Amino acid sequence: MPDAVTMDKIVSLCRRRGFVFPSSEIYGGLGSAYDYGHYGVLLKANVKARWLEAMVQERDDIVALDSAIILHPQVWEASGHVTGFTDPMVDCRTCKKRFRADHLEESRCERKPSKRPGEGPECDLTEARHFNLMFETHVGALEESGSKAYLRPETAQGIFINFKNVAQLARRKPPFGIAQIGKSFRNEITPGNFLFRTREFEQMEMEFFVPPDEAERWYRYWIEERRAWYVRYGISESHLRVREHGAEELSHYSSATSDIEYLFPIGWSELEGVANRGDYDLRAHSEASGTTLEWVDAAAGERYVPHVIEPAGGVDRALLAFVVDAYHEEVVAERERTVLRLHPQLAPVKAAVLPLIAKSAPMVERARTLYEELRRVVSVEYDDGGQIGRRYRRQDEIGTPFALTIDEQTLEDDTVTIRDRDSLAQERISLSQAREHLQDRLAQPWRSPKTG
Ligand code: GAP
Repeated sequence: MPDAVTMDKIVSLCRRRGFVFPSSEIYGGLGSAYDYGHYGVLLKANVKARWLEAMVQERDDIVALDSAIILHPQVWEASGHVTGFTDPMVDCRTCKKRFRADHLEESRCERKPSKRPGEGPECDLTEARHFNLMFETHVGALEESGSKAYLRPETAQGIFINFKNVAQLARRKPPFGIAQIGKSFRNEITPGNFLFRTREFEQMEMEFFVPPDEAERWYRYWIEERRAWYVRYGISESHLRVREHGAEELSHYSSATSDIEYLFPIGWSELEGVANRGDYDLRAHSEASGTTLEWVDAAAGERYVPHVIEPAGGVDRALLAFVVDAYHEEVVAERERTVLRLHPQLAPVKAAVLPLIAKSAPMVERARTLYEELRRVVSVEYDDGGQIGRRYRRQDEIGTPFALTIDEQTLEDDTVTIRDRDSLAQERISLSQAREHLQDRLAQPWRSPKTG
């Protein structure tokens, strides 16, 4: 990264400002599990809302779904997950740690000095074995063999098994899509790098059902559409690239996959995958369930199993990329500031309302009145704690695009200053028009000053 944004700086900011912190901390933590605090919840909700807007609200050809997390166990047999959703792992008999056999080059053992597993003479690695990533659970009060179930490792299967329901209810004809956001669970062998790889995470997946001869065209379309979504919400074009999978890398269901990769502090890594799943899933569930999942148009004499193009992204991973790309350190008036230049549509708080002097009753009263008015339309924060410079810096760090300050002049002429997070420009506007002004500014097209 040109400006050396490290993962440590991101973890530290997220913790300091209460976006995200390690889970179960009072019990010593649970490795690679995180809890979202106030600003993290708001930011994550905005990421999901922008995805739903782009996928559902702004289009005629995609509908939404929210399927169950625990599905019939046969779903995972038919999908190939029970036999195929595995990673190869090795154990080290010396350090007792477990590693992904296909990631040994990037792995480090915890012994000092830290080494690549297998590097030192004392390393004693087992043969690689297959390890299924699905979490098992039991449904009902009895732990008997018939009660075994799984926490879903992807949201996609909930969509495939509902193909018939949705196609009928939504009265859609291919090409059309079904979009879903929800939690997924994978017992990753080596989770890590903060939110990048965890065992519990949220996915935003869309299955787009198309006539077989249109699959290639829609596959290319969705790669570009999804790349453009990240740019639309502030990620620098130069920090994104598309990488097509080689044949040896393809998942069991895929005939072609491209990763949209982001230049994370850990290097280029997958942000979202776009796969051409062919008719694999609908055929597999038709055979296993006995319910034919196909498109039939009797009037047009059409009958076929649609092919599926799937853009599949991670909410947490996208949030991490947005925060990394927005993170900026700079010196302003000889003082360092850390600023999150989040797209205003993603920012957890859109504006802060600040009385310049917290002890001035008339200023506080005006500020509270303005705050009450603004909170009805957008997410705003009232802050009268500490020096004004410190309050601005706090808002910069959580990415608040605008700050409205009530000062002496407000009491004289009913104007208020509005400070722009990115340019630091301050403008005086009329208090009575503050709400309209803020809404206009928030609706304007925004480009990160980093990308120029
Ligand atoms: N239905 C296809 C599918 O699940 P995937 O590439 O395994 O494809 C899609 O997952 C996206 O979900 C990834 O691009 C990533 O953003 C996110 N994701 C997958 N595993 C994750 C994990 N362990 N932690 C965080 N996000 C993850």
